[in-house]
Formats: sequence, C-alpha cells, structure tokens
Amino acid sequence: MNNLLKGKKGIIFGALNEMSIAWKVAEKAHEQGAEFVLTNVPVSIRFGTLDELAQKTGSQIVPADATSVEDLENLFDKAMEILGGKVDFVLHSIGMSLNVRKGKTYDDLNYEYYKKTLDISALSFHKMLQVAKKKDAINEWGSVVALSYIAAQRTLYGYNDMADAKAILESIARSFGYIYGRERKIRINTISQSPTMTTAGSGVKGIGALIDFTERMSPLGNATADECADYTITLFSDLTRKVTMQNLFHDGGFSSMGMSARAMFQYNKSFDDPEDITETDK
Ligand SMILES: NC(=O)c1ccc[n+]([C@@H]2O[C@H](COP(=O)([O-])OP(=O)(O)OC[C@H]3O[C@@H](n4cnc5c(N)ncnc54)[C@H](O)[C@@H]3O)[C@@H](O)[C@H]2O)c1
Repeated sequence: MNNLLKGKKGIIFGALNEMSIAWKVAEKAHEQGAEFVLTNVPVSIRFGTLDELAQKTGSQIVPADATSVEDLENLFDKAMEILGGKVDFVLHSIGMSLNVRKGKTYDDLNYEYYKKTLDISALSFHKMLQVAKKKDAINEWGSVVALSYIAAQRTLYGYNDMADAKAILESIARSFGYIYGRERKIRINTISQSPTMTTAGSGVKGIGALIDFTERMSPLGNATADECADYTITLFSDLTRKVTMQNLFHDGGFSSMGMSARAMFQYNKSFDDPEDITETDK
C-alpha cells in the first residue's frame, strides 16, 4: 500500500451497504492509512450494514441526519474528540428524492418532497461546510469532496428533481470553495460519477438502460464505484493540493462524447437498414 492518507483523519458520510460509493471510499481510505468516523442517518444505520464497515476499518459511527445543523454540530464535535483533533478530509455521499421514490414526474412535483430533495441532496453540503468552518474543524490543506452527476449540466430522462439538487451541490462547491480556500486553504470539489448500481442508483428510472448507454458511449467504459473511490482518495491526498472549486468528471469520457460507434451500432439495430460498422469501431 502507498499510505497516501497516512496520518490523515476524516469523516465519511453516506455508506449504507457494501454497494455504496462511500463504503468503497472508506475501505480504500483505510487501506491508505487514514483514520475516520463513519456517519449516516439513523434509519440507514438500522437498515444498512454500517456496523460491519466500522469493524472492518476500526472506525466509530456517529449518527447524524445531514439536514440537521444540530446533528452536524454534534458530529463534528464527536469526530474531533474520537480522532483527537481536526479532520483533513470529508466525503459527502448523500442523495435522496421522494419525488423519484414515489414516481412523481418533474411536471407534477410534490413541493414538500422537492424541498426535501434539495435539503438532503444539496443544502446538507452547505450545512456541513458551514458547521465545519464555524467550528474550525478542518485542518489547513484539507479536502472536501461531494458526489455529483452529469444531470447537473444535461437533461437525462427520469433524473427528475435530483438534477436541480446536483446543480446546487456543484455551485455550493464553487461558492464555499472560494471562501474556504481563501481563508483556510481548504479545497472543495465535486466528482461527477458514471451511473453506478447502488441503492440510490437503482432508484433512477431506467438505470439498466442508462448504464448500458453510457458504457457504449464512453471510450473507457463506465467508472465503477471502486474506481470512484480511488479517484476520491487522490483528492484527499496531498497530491492534489491546488485542485479546488471543480466539478471533476469521472465517467470514462462520457461527458465529452456526442455519439460513439458502439452506441450508433446499437441504435441502428432498430432500423431496417443499419449502417455498416467495422469490428474495430465497436
Ligand atoms: N449510483 C449512481 O449512479 C451515482 C452516480 C453519480 C453520483 N451518485 C451520487 O453518489 C452519492 C452516493 O450514492 P450511492 O450511489 O453510493 O447510493 P447509496 O444509496 O449507497 O448512498 C446514498 C446515501 O445517502 C444517505 N442519506 C440519505 N438521506 C440522508 C440524510 N438525511 N442524512 C445523511 N445521509 C443521508 C443514505 O443513507 C445513503 O447512505 C449520492 O450523492 C449520489 O447522488 C451516484
């Protein structure tokens, strides 16, 4: 192991089960020598398998609803107590939409659900940053990462009000990144990840088709949760100290593509007269 995070301390939000992106980040952070506190909302701790991850990584769990400033204050206090000082990295890996869950379409949103979507999936990021800053809980040259999705920039069928949440999330990374960078040399970035089969991912309408489409469109193929965790570790490490206020696509090249030969080949299958495609183009 390279010990890229040796001596670093952190807080990891959002590991529900072993499919979670945050779970993979915790495993890899542990492998790379970090110590951290795991957190999730109490109901997810009850229904998920976070205890197993805590045991595996020698970590403690501090429950917190990321929409509650009070919970976040308690979390940062407890984390500093447990870890014996300020933290160096924070992962925000949180998303949820009741409109998506209950099948409400974007032109028939329930506004109470909509507010919850934004609060859980976006404003919670601002809340944790504001709490951390007020408590001076992150060391200089610390790194904060939140997970995003390309629906912040492009419209994808069925992503619904989560698209708005991701757009706000990415904007918070820039706006807070300026202040936290200027005052405390702390960097804030979002990683825009490929569609991934997780519990949250499987709630996205047509996720199977979406994963197949982006796989065919991306020259390097979809990025897996494990690969996302690898990338996140680099952002927590000292090797990326001047990267801040960025939305970083981690998607095998998908975000720069318009049409690929593999996707066109598949598309043409539905027509009577498919265009020729060479073996190497596939
Ligand atoms: N899976 C994908 O296709 C994909 C793609 C791009 C980005 N992302 C993003 O990655 C992040 C992690 O999602 P995942 O795919 O690992 O799914 P996941 O379901 O494993 O994780 C989502 C987490 O959000 C937590 N959460 C929900 N409400 C909360 C609250 N009020 N307070 C604290 N935590 C709360 C859940 O308990 C869960 O652990 C999300 O931001 C998601 O939007 C996922």
